[in-house]
Amino acid sequence: MSKEQLVTIAKSNLEHAEAGTIQQTENFHQVPASHYFDPERWDQEMNKIFKRVPLLLATTAELPNPGDYKALDAAGTPVLISRDSAGSVQAFFNMCSHRGAQIMPQGRGNTHRFTCPYHAWTYSLEGELTAIYANKDFGDLDKSCHNLTPLPCLERAGLIWVTLSRDSSLPIETFLSGYDALLAQFGFENWHYFASQAVEGPNWKIAYDGYMDLYHLPILHKDTFGPDYPNRANYYNWGPHQRVAGPDPRLAEFKERPVEDWPDDALTAGVWTIFPHISIASFDGGGRSIMLSQLFPGETPGTSITIQHYLMESAPDETRAAEAKTQFEFLKYVVEQEDYATGLKQQRALESGGKDYVLFGKNEGGGHHFHHWVDLLLRTEDKDLKALFETHQKTFFTAH
Ligand code: FES
Repeated sequence: MSKEQLVTIAKSNLEHAEAGTIQQTENFHQVPASHYFDPERWDQEMNKIFKRVPLLLATTAELPNPGDYKALDAAGTPVLISRDSAGSVQAFFNMCSHRGAQIMPQGRGNTHRFTCPYHAWTYSLEGELTAIYANKDFGDLDKSCHNLTPLPCLERAGLIWVTLSRDSSLPIETFLSGYDALLAQFGFENWHYFASQAVEGPNWKIAYDGYMDLYHLPILHKDTFGPDYPNRANYYNWGPHQRVAGPDPRLAEFKERPVEDWPDDALTAGVWTIFPHISIASFDGGGRSIMLSQLFPGETPGTSITIQHYLMESAPDETRAAEAKTQFEFLKYVVEQEDYATGLKQQRALESGGKDYVLFGKNEGGGHHFHHWVDLLLRTEDKDLKALFETHQKTFFTAH
């Protein structure tokens, strides 16, 4: 079914390529410049988006085995993700039940138990408090009432989502809006984790706007990879999540084939964004690979941090690993020195008050859809959150 959807999209994309057209929105879209720096607006985005909707915090490839864990800071919340002894993924606040110390340092590893560095309280992979140091001295305590605090968590399509709210009423599956079935076509659950690196950038929406924007490629990236890429895009969306695909005449080669014979790499090409903070760009040549960019707001409205993860379809030999390292360094250079360097200057210009609005053209439907969803979520009460996502399931294209 998901492959059929991907072929339908590929055929729509090919029609545009052959006709020399793209999907265009009916109108231009204006976003108030203050939305990129106003502290009140930013607080609302943190509380109503980042603390409320599921975030993609890890990939299966990062923690494939029982006992594997990952600790990270996600939008200001310390999170601990663990693969328990039965092989299921669980997520917790990375916070001790004694006096709240962070239990594991940021990073990945493998362990049998989590031991707090402050007074050595110990927890199982399932988050149960199993031992209290000097228990006699500390006093009798019902350990079962003092486990780690769990967070909603779901592993799908080789990707791991966590909601940073322990009493969220939004099922992660509902939030995914059917998009996970399409992402499953990559087969990420069997991919190989290669490396990660961090890049500092501007306001998270300035950074994220760029991931949906092919319009800028031959201009801003003229000295790097830009000249090789088309600057036109079609956008396909499932709820707030969007796939960005440039019209590709090379798809004509597969046009008459039955669905099952279309190659996966052609069907999954382009950029896959996962609201509100993920972009997956795929690459061919020497084996398939992706860069998954995980964008988090920084400590102020004008800052962000992006963690780039490089995953490969299969474990590389020495030559392939060297090529991947070079490519990953190149990608960091492009994002840091071209995209985010421009974004940081854009940030200062917006803050100067010279314009009331920024504009998105009829060819920039991805930006329309993204900002529409940001606004929608800020307006939506907790009690209506689930219904909001239920009414926006499995659409291919929504014009605003
Ligand atoms: Fe963790 Fe004391 S704060 S053991």
